[in-house]
Amino acid sequence: MKPLSIRLKLTAWYIAVLLASLSIFSVAAFFAMKKGIEKSVDENLEGQASGIKELMGRVLNEEPTRLRDELREHAELREQADFSQVCDEGGQWIYRSRLMASHNVPVPATANYSAYNLEAGDLPLRVLVREINAGGDRYRIQVAAPMDDFYDALDRFKWVVLLLSPLVLVLASGGGYWLNRRALAPVDQITRAAQDINSNNLANRLHVPQSGDELQRLSQTLNSMLERLEASFNRITQFTADASHELRTPLALMRTTTEVSLRTSQTVADYREAQQEVLAELEKTSSLVEKLMLLARADAGVETLQRTPLNLAECLRDACKDGKILADSKQLTFTEAIESSELFVEGDSHALHRLFLILIDNAVKYTPTGRSITVGLMRSDNSALAEFRDTGIGISANDLPNIFERFYRADRARSREFGGVGLGLSIARWVAEAHRGSIEVQSTPGTGSVFTVRLPLLQG
Ligand SMILES: Nc1ncnc2c1ncn2[C@@H]1O[C@H](COP(=O)(O)OP(=O)(O)OP(=O)(O)O)[C@@H](O)[C@H]1O
Ligand SMILES: [Mg+2]
Repeated sequence: MKPLSIRLKLTAWYIAVLLASLSIFSVAAFFAMKKGIEKSVDENLEGQASGIKELMGRVLNEEPTRLRDELREHAELREQADFSQVCDEGGQWIYRSRLMASHNVPVPATANYSAYNLEAGDLPLRVLVREINAGGDRYRIQVAAPMDDFYDALDRFKWVVLLLSPLVLVLASGGGYWLNRRALAPVDQITRAAQDINSNNLANRLHVPQSGDELQRLSQTLNSMLERLEASFNRITQFTADASHELRTPLALMRTTTEVSLRTSQTVADYREAQQEVLAELEKTSSLVEKLMLLARADAGVETLQRTPLNLAECLRDACKDGKILADSKQLTFTEAIESSELFVEGDSHALHRLFLILIDNAVKYTPTGRSITVGLMRSDNSALAEFRDTGIGISANDLPNIFERFYRADRARSREFGGVGLGLSIARWVAEAHRGSIEVQSTPGTGSVFTVRLPLLQG
């Protein structure tokens, strides 16, 4: 079965609620009217019974023999049809009006209740019974009122409600459906616009109605989601384009070297030289491919870290050993300033070693021969701070915000000459953040740079 649209569902709910309210209202109104009528009839009957009681008290005191006549005369004085009767304790009639007799209204067995409904033949009656003491004897007075007119009016009310309700329901449902349609029309618009968006037109945005309601918020939310999607889509496209470009250069170089060598090499030494060039390019290319794979796996969330409690000082000293070899090859003074010998963090030793080496490698690469590099480690509150200070070329303020971007190199030509592709710092930042840490940089062009890695210390 096809699921109902929100429009139809809302209308169905609306009809159900309306039907329930209409039924409750009609039933309540019917009974309230019936009760109201009976109450005012009872008050009237109460008045009549009091009149008879008063009369009987007086007559029984003054002239008991005239009781029947007085009661008849009293009844005749009243204009309405007389529905009254009085009997003594033994059930003997003292007075019984013609109408009471013709409708055969019985004396109730008990006089506990004062007013009740009675079906006398086909005439509905409201009867009030009252027990009195007069002249030393007990009497039962009964007065009644025909209810047929009232019940006819109630009946008419019932039919009006029953006949009008379907009409009200039809009108209200039609109106409800129309209102729902109007209110939900922008949702259809948003749906159609969203259906048209694909990877080729991710820059398109949905129309935002300035209604200040949920629909405005929905379109704004979808638009900001599109913005984020567009940004990551562009990043991925850019990453793929940059990666292909970076791979093309060494491949072209290897191809040319091999071709030239095949055409021109005469001696084994010539071939060897060509092979060494190709090998160097191959090493660079595999390192590039390895970096690309790492970043791709990190993006996909499949590159997991094996984090265990480890001594950061030891890990950094380890990286410094490799760093020293790099520094020595460039005749740089390498100083290790690891203050504390025990700073425990929860980390992946392999990934952290890689992070430190990326920063030492940069410091070595971008510092001219003969100058110095210092690697330090200290504690600051609940964090460990690893600092990589160089006295190299520095980074300009323009480049500073971008150096952690993938493939970003401040000076492309120079960086490539150093063998860099611009992925080191992206990997470094990923490792730091995967350890719930951060990485910051301060730099003065011509004087040097300081990279600081902050990692949360293991508590307790
Ligand atoms: N210590 C530093 N001194 C000066 N410039 C630096 C330093 N570290 C990084 N940079 C600049 O930031 C850029 C990005 O660094 P990153 O380590 O990401 O790439 P790379 O060193 O060029 O290549 P690789 O992927 O091989 O590390 C570098 O190209 C360089 O311009
Ligand atoms: Mg680097």
